[in-house]
Amino acid sequence: MKIFIDSANLNDLEEALERGFASGITTNPSILAKEPKSGFENHVKKIIKVIRKYHRKGDLPLSIEVFSRDSKEIISQAENFKKTFKYPGLCVKVHIGWDELKTIKQLSDRGIPVNCTACMTVSQAVMAAQAGARYVSLFWGRIGDAGQDEKFSSEREKLLTEGVLDKDDFDPGKIVSQTRELLDKLNLPTEIIVGSIRKVTNIRDAHASGAHIVTVPPKFFKPMVSHYKTDEVVEIFLKDFQAWLE
Ligand code: E4P
Repeated sequence: MKIFIDSANLNDLEEALERGFASGITTNPSILAKEPKSGFENHVKKIIKVIRKYHRKGDLPLSIEVFSRDSKEIISQAENFKKTFKYPGLCVKVHIGWDELKTIKQLSDRGIPVNCTACMTVSQAVMAAQAGARYVSLFWGRIGDAGQDEKFSSEREKLLTEGVLDKDDFDPGKIVSQTRELLDKLNLPTEIIVGSIRKVTNIRDAHASGAHIVTVPPKFFKPMVSHYKTDEVVEIFLKDFQAWLE
């Protein structure tokens, strides 16, 4: 089980990194926008400083997302991230799309690792992997929403009728396991990151479905290591031992 931290909050990152269980960090523009305004580059530099405090090698994977839909602009932002942050673990997050596949290939060919984000289907993830993405991010919660969201009922019906999607496309467990099966079959080195985690059990289910990595919002870390029976048994041990000492 590999866990990334899905946050740009310096305090939350520090609390997780000092406990040693996290193997990487993912951010996105909405996650960054939750932090106090101090400038984008400045905030990312602060994240890198926190990483270096707990990770001596300083190459913990850190995904930073581009904030454009224009291919030229995406390439220039990615190059700029590389130049500005000079961080060996940097992965540039680029969303999936037709033009973006070309961009993912170009960045990967230039040696810039890409985390292809916002993937909802097997074909999106596998095509991104074939284009050279280092990671593909499948959005567990949003894949489920795609089957129910009233706002998209006509798009959904059309794609279901045309055979572009079927009901399995709204089952995140199936999407992750089929993607993993294909990546393995094709011998692609790309790793699946599952994001859009909505509850603690999603983390276990995503790993069991074949995710290489699950990126987890920090609010779930404490519940992940807590259990009422753990509390009970630790209390019993202490009480029994105390009684024996007296
Ligand atoms: C991670 O890479 C994603 O950006 C993130 O998990 C998306 O989560 P959300 O669907 O809760 O916005």
